[in-house]
Amino acid sequence: MKTTTKLALTTLMLTLVTGVALAAPAAENWDNLCASCHGADGKGQTKSGKKLKLRDYTEAKVQTELKDDAMTKAITSGVKIDGKEKMKAFKEEISGGEIQELVAYVRKFKA
Ligand code: HEC
Repeated sequence: MKTTTKLALTTLMLTLVTGVALAAPAAENWDNLCASCHGADGKGQTKSGKKLKLRDYTEAKVQTELKDDAMTKAITSGVKIDGKEKMKAFKEEISGGEIQELVAYVRKFKA
């Protein structure tokens, strides 16, 4: 094989590998970025979660009240209550696709 072909193949493979590594699965993003407040189980029973009076995402009633577009907005742009930032915006850290997957992930907590 010609050296240039080998180089091209190596570059292609590296792009594929790093491309996959960049988009973390929703479960991983949840554990790394969200669980400190919302809890690994989505119940919001963490120290910060209790202080912030977070909703329990396993409750059917809560799930009904939550709207997909509002969830997307909260994750993308953050949440301010009385002008104070309570949840930061995550659009710099995760892609739009990952945010959609997190919305789906929150839905899965429903008991
Ligand atoms: C610093 C604590 C904190 C972290 C970290 C955090 N959140 Fe939140 N989140 C909040 C608060 C506070 C609210 C507003 C709760 C309310 O309105 O009752 C909220 C609201 C939400 C909402 C809107 C629905 C609702 O219950 O109001 C969603 C969806 C959500 N968070 C998902 C996430 C996801 C996904 C992550 C990780 C990428 C995350 N949160 C990280 C504190 C946090």
